[in-house]
Amino acid sequence: MNEKEIVLSGIRATGNLHLGNYFGALSKFVRMQDDYDSMFFIADLHALTTNPSPEELHVNVKNIVSEYLAAGVDPEKATIFVQSDVPEVSELYLLLNMHVGIGELMRTASFKDKARKALGIKSDSEDIEHEIIGSETNKRVNAGLLTYPTLMAVDILIQKAHKVPVGKDQEQHLELTRRFARRFNSFYGVDLFPEPTNFDFGGQPVKVPGLDGSGKMGKSEGNCIYLIDEEKVLRKKVMRATTDEGPKEPNSPVSLPVQNLFTLMELTSAPEVVQQFKDAYADCSIRYGDLKKQLAEDILKITLPIRQRILDIRNDDAYIGKVLRQGAERARERAAATLKEAREVMGIRKFY
Ligand code: TRP
Repeated sequence: MNEKEIVLSGIRATGNLHLGNYFGALSKFVRMQDDYDSMFFIADLHALTTNPSPEELHVNVKNIVSEYLAAGVDPEKATIFVQSDVPEVSELYLLLNMHVGIGELMRTASFKDKARKALGIKSDSEDIEHEIIGSETNKRVNAGLLTYPTLMAVDILIQKAHKVPVGKDQEQHLELTRRFARRFNSFYGVDLFPEPTNFDFGGQPVKVPGLDGSGKMGKSEGNCIYLIDEEKVLRKKVMRATTDEGPKEPNSPVSLPVQNLFTLMELTSAPEVVQQFKDAYADCSIRYGDLKKQLAEDILKITLPIRQRILDIRNDDAYIGKVLRQGAERARERAAATLKEAREVMGIRKFY
């Protein structure tokens, strides 16, 4: 196992996983686990940045582990673990923060976004720093939100991962991770942390659109199909997806909402089926109701078996416990070794 390159990725423990997570992350994890020393984890500490209730957090972690396993991530091939089960991460997070600038953290796009949300600011006002420091309301931007990228960098660096499969929205965090690694290595004159790169099989990155006619599928958007959705619910969601009035002339350009449905179809339906509906669009004979029925059918073929497995696994606490204990042991072994080196390098050396 040790000669293979280390691949690591994580999903924040907030809410259930949706089709976007499936095509963007889970299905890739499953393909990677044979060829790489794979580590996939549930980022529960990251989830704490938005202050969930304790019950919510616990359930979310359990759900996501179940969803990893149900989608085919195999604990015999990959290391599956919960971030907080590796306490070494928290210690290295403290240490690495000594080399991270608050300015660079404040300039991170995801931070500005989340800070705006926390303060209830809608506009893209660039003066967010002013709002954060001068805020007179009881709203606040917690320090965990600011140091989110440090924690993510530590997830990666503590395992000395080479490849990190993440979507576009995480690229800036990965860039920071490389910068922090370089900075640490050069400050102490060591070669402790490898610089990780993004990893996407060299293929087109998949962008899974939502059902509301706008952008991509996202947990918070209310435009999502969850892997755990019941058959009826899923059909209803797809039937209600935004479309338009339909093509009036042959070969009309395709509007975004309709293109989104075609894109979902390309991910889930057979190529002939997609072509058939595209042809029907081109000659104006298309009926969106038929397209949606077909789309729902083809999505269900993927999600229903996964849903059943999720339900089975969620009921099997002993199995979940076994998987996570084994994962934690493996993840801690590597993390402890890296932390030991980092402490030594920084001058934290024992007198006894
Ligand atoms: N920040 C990532 C997200 O929101 C989740 C994450 C945390 C992660 N630590 C990571 C992803 C380490 C890859 C590697 O999607």
